[in-house]
Amino acid sequence: MAQVDVESFEGIDIFEMDESEPDWQVIYFGEGRDQVKLYVDPMRVCIWENSNVMSEWCIKNQGLFKQKRVMELGCGMALPAMTVAALNATEVIATDISPTACKIVKECMAYSRSVGQQSSPFSASVLDWNEVFTAELASGIGAYKSNLPRVDVILGSDVLYASEHGLPLAAAVDTHLIPGGLLVLTTRNFRPGLDLFLENIQKIRGFQLVNEEQYNRGEEEGTKSYKLYVMQKPEPIES
Ligand SMILES: C[S@@+](CC[C@H](N)C(=O)[O-])C[C@H]1O[C@@H](n2cnc3c(N)ncnc32)[C@H](O)[C@@H]1O
Repeated sequence: MAQVDVESFEGIDIFEMDESEPDWQVIYFGEGRDQVKLYVDPMRVCIWENSNVMSEWCIKNQGLFKQKRVMELGCGMALPAMTVAALNATEVIATDISPTACKIVKECMAYSRSVGQQSSPFSASVLDWNEVFTAELASGIGAYKSNLPRVDVILGSDVLYASEHGLPLAAAVDTHLIPGGLLVLTTRNFRPGLDLFLENIQKIRGFQLVNEEQYNRGEEEGTKSYKLYVMQKPEPIES
């Protein structure tokens, strides 16, 4: 079984290759007693550097996930969701618009369990932010109830790459997060949709920025910079 060098792994530009046979690869995040071992299939679902950044951050901040229900939006191969499932979350729900990605994530978790890896209760469900946004437009902010549960922490890795993602992603975050809950977002700098997302989630929905970190990955000319944002959803004001 191949082992992926996370430091140099930039992702493979193949997405949703459901027909091919599984090609399990091992990724490690963290060190020593905190080390997490994941079984993934990057030949069938693309992995992006943002999810490496977020998975490492989740291990360093694992106290945030203790006895918490966690959802990942636009999960793709779902490395962050799998990482917190290997830590101490109460329940983890990976979501993506792609049924194929959800199916392959479930296969990875089933394989991982079959070789003895421990995990929090884990599911993978189709969720399209655009559908949430449309439903929210019809019912009003805060009024739309999704079929999926509300969670304590939402993870989003590389989920802003088109300007039309900004508002639907903000609606999906707000709909699925409990008051006081946290959003952790990793993104390349200056991605389309990022400014619109940040403006909407902060000015319209009242989320507070509680942490912002910058990462540089790659070498010299290939170096790219990444941002990690932690934002908190406001508690309702007592009357
Ligand atoms: C660039 S990939 C990132 C995947 C993964 N989070 C990572 O970092 O490796 C963007 C992901 O967002 C998902 N996505 C795009 N539009 C979506 C939408 N409207 N609703 C839900 N997921 C969406 C794609 O299917 C894809 O898995």
